Amino acid sequence: MKGPDPSKIMQIGMGFWASKTLLTAVNMKLFSHLAKREMSAREIQNQLGLHDRSLFDFLDTLVALGFLKRKGFKEGAMYQNSDDADLFLDQDKLTYIGGILEMSNNRLYRFWNDLEEALKTGKPQNESKYGDKPLFEAIYSNEESLREFLHAMGGAQAGNFDYFARNFDFSKIKTHCDIGGAGGNLCVHIAKNNPHISSICYDLPKVTPIAEGNFRSLGLSDRIKARSGDFFQEELPKADLITMCNVLHDWGTEDKKMLISKAYSALPSEGALVIIENVIDDDRRQNAFGLMMSLNMLIETDQGYDFSLSDFREWASQSGFRKIEAMRLTGPASALVARK
Ligand SMILES: C[S@@+](CC[C@H](N)C(=O)[O-])C[C@H]1O[C@@H](n2cnc3c(N)ncnc32)[C@H](O)[C@@H]1O
Repeated sequence: MKGPDPSKIMQIGMGFWASKTLLTAVNMKLFSHLAKREMSAREIQNQLGLHDRSLFDFLDTLVALGFLKRKGFKEGAMYQNSDDADLFLDQDKLTYIGGILEMSNNRLYRFWNDLEEALKTGKPQNESKYGDKPLFEAIYSNEESLREFLHAMGGAQAGNFDYFARNFDFSKIKTHCDIGGAGGNLCVHIAKNNPHISSICYDLPKVTPIAEGNFRSLGLSDRIKARSGDFFQEELPKADLITMCNVLHDWGTEDKKMLISKAYSALPSEGALVIIENVIDDDRRQNAFGLMMSLNMLIETDQGYDFSLSDFREWASQSGFRKIEAMRLTGPASALVARK
């Protein structure tokens, strides 16, 4: 029988070394450069402006972590992306998921340093700690952080949105509205896989011009419309299917219930509300990513938290939804489906 083993403690405890090495490589666009051609260490050094002291340790750490491949040794070595890094970390490919890693490098990494303060005070530790603006106002107050946030949201969810758009039964649905749809990624995946559906991507006024630009550049403007609005101030647009992805977890219990209830009012009978989130398992023992996402909401929001299917079932049935079930997506995410 295996005895006590400190290796997992060390791996997770020192995990920030590996995390920051990868995040920095993404931020410096190393994988995008290497996607064009394999390079020697000196060529990479010139491209990224690396110091002699760091050069081989940085690159060979990425080899040992499995993100780069290397032929040869030190001065004679040639470096290439690993297959996963090439597909998912080259910013010139549509499959790029690095937006969430860029945002983690530039925002979340620092904010998580104050986790202990968040645990003791229950207060957010992001930009809003230093001004009095809430999350979205703070992020959307400058164009660069607005774009970085939307880019991050899109990349993080791409696998789930694609899976959902391919596997959910859309046969009885003609109209769809994505609430808090950000840059419009879910609407795009649904439109591409389900030619009979037209969508509305509903979000705050600062966001909709970016979504509109995305739909235009993909030639989908006739099927997906971006609509500006504030879900605290008005009713939701009517549609056969309403989706909310990583929206409920931004808010406290009363606001979550208010959004579910507004969705109920906007649906026809037989219509469906679908929530896509990193849903925590009912027993709160397994979905570590979902639980840490909830800690991330502690860091990022005033009252937000992640939740389980049974939490959602309670809120949705209070609003009148009759059938509530979960559909597993990729990795730790699920779609929760509530039918009117
Ligand atoms: C965490 S993001 C999720 C984005 C996207 N659904 C996804 O999963 O990638 C939450 C979204 O809700 C939007 N939002 C926040 N407050 C809103 C409000 N009052 N009315 C409409 N949308 C809002 C934000 O602009 C943002 O796009």
